Amino acid sequence: MPLVVLDRSLPLFTWVVDHPWFSTFLLTLGAFTFARFAIKTAVVFAQTFVLPGISLKKFGAKNGAWAVVTGASSGIGREFAIQLAKAGFNVVVAARSANALNETVAEITSGAQTKIVTIDLSKDDDAAYNAFAAACEGLDIGVLVNNAGKSHEMPTDFAETTKEEMEDILAINTKAVLRITAIVAPGMIQRKRGLILNIGSFAGAIPSPMLATYSASKAFLSTFSSALGAELTPHGITVEHVNTYFVVSNMSKIRRATALIPTPGAFVRAVLAKIGCACGAAGTGRPGTSTPFWSHALVDWGMNVVGWTGGFVGYTHGLHRSIRKRALKKKEREAKKQ
Ligand SMILES: NC(=O)c1ccc[n+]([C@@H]2O[C@H](COP(=O)([O-])OP(=O)(O)OC[C@H]3O[C@@H](n4cnc5c(N)ncnc54)[C@H](OP(=O)(O)O)[C@@H]3O)[C@@H](O)[C@H]2O)c1
Repeated sequence: MPLVVLDRSLPLFTWVVDHPWFSTFLLTLGAFTFARFAIKTAVVFAQTFVLPGISLKKFGAKNGAWAVVTGASSGIGREFAIQLAKAGFNVVVAARSANALNETVAEITSGAQTKIVTIDLSKDDDAAYNAFAAACEGLDIGVLVNNAGKSHEMPTDFAETTKEEMEDILAINTKAVLRITAIVAPGMIQRKRGLILNIGSFAGAIPSPMLATYSASKAFLSTFSSALGAELTPHGITVEHVNTYFVVSNMSKIRRATALIPTPGAFVRAVLAKIGCACGAAGTGRPGTSTPFWSHALVDWGMNVVGWTGGFVGYTHGLHRSIRKRALKKKEREAKKQ
């Protein structure tokens, strides 16, 4: 016995039968939607798993060019400095900790020239940016990695976030990116080549409760990168917003790598191998954004297929509530030990 019996006397049914153009329209719409989905999926998988990115030689690797990396004293930035030096760039490394920057430079064994700039990007200090500009003056800068970043100490409701934390996050994650790009981009325009990587976060794509300031600062980076990319592409400059899920680092407080959480080394290798490929961000309507690490790419693609941002916001809120609970317990334990 059929579960659904079509009643041919229903007015809607007879109307559809009497108007065959309507079924043709529905079929065409279905075929178009399916083809769009199939093409986007093919592009995501081809770019993530098969196609190579633009060669770093295009940006001056092995030809005397420099790479400038902010936040190069630890985590992802340190790896960018080491891997870009290995690829044939001289490197300028910047962060607050001179000792940690010296350790990064000591890891560089390729014979690359190096320069260390100590700067506190939370200060938004003209003198410090002038010193940064002076350190970059006269260098053929082929690559800029705006990587330095700050998140909240732990997930916290916006109403309880300190003014100092808010201001630091904005100064480091947004204003510093503008000011350092403004120092480096004019030279790139003159030389008609360059690569600018802005290290973003999934927290910028999915509004993240209890990390509201950080989340909004990363959304800023995404939009800024798209707009800047459109301006600079005609000048031979590639601007890429690197959409990042979790990576092992001090900031994420994650110590062990998994398939979904790479080491900084594996993450940076993927970024540099896929320049110019959107990978998991293909077809998501975010021009200039790339989600290059394979498992992050699959998550981005999956979220795009499901398309339920409200659900992801709710999931993230729950996750952050539980991270906060654990972080507070850890703080309590540490306070008791002292
Ligand atoms: N790890 C993740 O799961 C993850 C996920 C998404 C996005 N990201 C993004 O990836 C980037 C790198 O983060 P990470 O995970 O590698 O974290 P990390 O190991 O904590 O590195 C952060 C870097 O930023 C520098 N920095 C912080 N405050 C600074 C300041 N006031 N002035 C100058 N430099 C400053 C730090 O150097 P000093 O302390 O020496 O100043 C350090 O080199 C960030 O933009 C972050 O938002 C990371």
